Amino acid sequence: MAHLLDNQVAIITGSGRGIGAAAARMFALEGAKVVVTDLDREVSDQVAEEIVAGGGEAISHPGDVTGPKFADNILKATVEAYGKVNILVNNAGYTWDAMLHKMTDEQWQAMLDVHNTAPFRLIRAATPYMRDAAKKEMEAGQEPENRCIINISSTSGLHGNIGQINYATAKLGLVGLTKTVAKEWGAFGIRCNAVAFGYMDTRLTRPKEAGEKISVQGKDVDLGIPDKLRGGFEHLIPLRRGGTAEEAAGGILLMASPHAGYITGHTLEVTGGMGI
Ligand SMILES: NC(=O)c1ccc[n+]([C@@H]2O[C@H](COP(=O)([O-])OP(=O)(O)OC[C@H]3O[C@@H](n4cnc5c(N)ncnc54)[C@H](O)[C@@H]3O)[C@@H](O)[C@H]2O)c1
Repeated sequence: MAHLLDNQVAIITGSGRGIGAAAARMFALEGAKVVVTDLDREVSDQVAEEIVAGGGEAISHPGDVTGPKFADNILKATVEAYGKVNILVNNAGYTWDAMLHKMTDEQWQAMLDVHNTAPFRLIRAATPYMRDAAKKEMEAGQEPENRCIINISSTSGLHGNIGQINYATAKLGLVGLTKTVAKEWGAFGIRCNAVAFGYMDTRLTRPKEAGEKISVQGKDVDLGIPDKLRGGFEHLIPLRRGGTAEEAAGGILLMASPHAGYITGHTLEVTGGMGI
């Protein structure tokens, strides 16, 4: 039976847990060969092993997306393993909240590094395998393969959000990046879209009091939303509930699918209707 992503090779950053892991599993079920990658080696390896145990194809290439050599290394590893790259999902990210008047330069810069610089470097490192490969196919008179880039944004970027001036700025920056790539690489049949999530159930939106942390470059950052601020979202969401990681991954799959072949430069909001 044919699947949506048969013969496609996909890199999904931040795919050790949450939305990225759900996307990795879903892509593999749809026939893609998946490069799982995460800051945390253990969860990255686990997701890849799970996919392989279930009969899919995956490798794990853990690392910090903000590392200067990360982009070149993962593209090299991907092509060594699978010979090509069709889909790049820039999903790795986290929040480091504070009110504007208390936001440090370090917090500000960390969000630009992970949500803007890392995706930019990954896309640039994909040039030979995406842009140049498509150009060669076209010069040889062939139809270029399906190739696309999906950048994960947020309603915090589209609408702003209290306590997230760093994250909101970076997530809207990703939309400008997305549209520019769509315009520059559209000539080679390469699509570039953003998917902006609203309120999805992952450790980024669970109670801060649960004590979840991310450790980036030796620094621990608390994740989650203070419990007293979490309630009362539902009435702002037409579907009256937050979304699951799988529902978020569904939006990513939609954009990666060949059925989205004429959609580029778009920001798909996966929000249960929040903010309409
Ligand atoms: N959960 C939501 O409601 C929501 C809403 C809007 C946007 N998003 C975005 O969705 C994406 C996925 O988040 P999630 O909710 O699944 O969170 P999550 O914490 O469950 O998963 C994110 C993964 O990214 C990894 N990661 C973070 N920084 C990294 C780095 N520097 N290098 C490599 N890996 C790194 C983490 O280790 C983690 O496994 C993020 O970009 C986030 O900003 C989430």
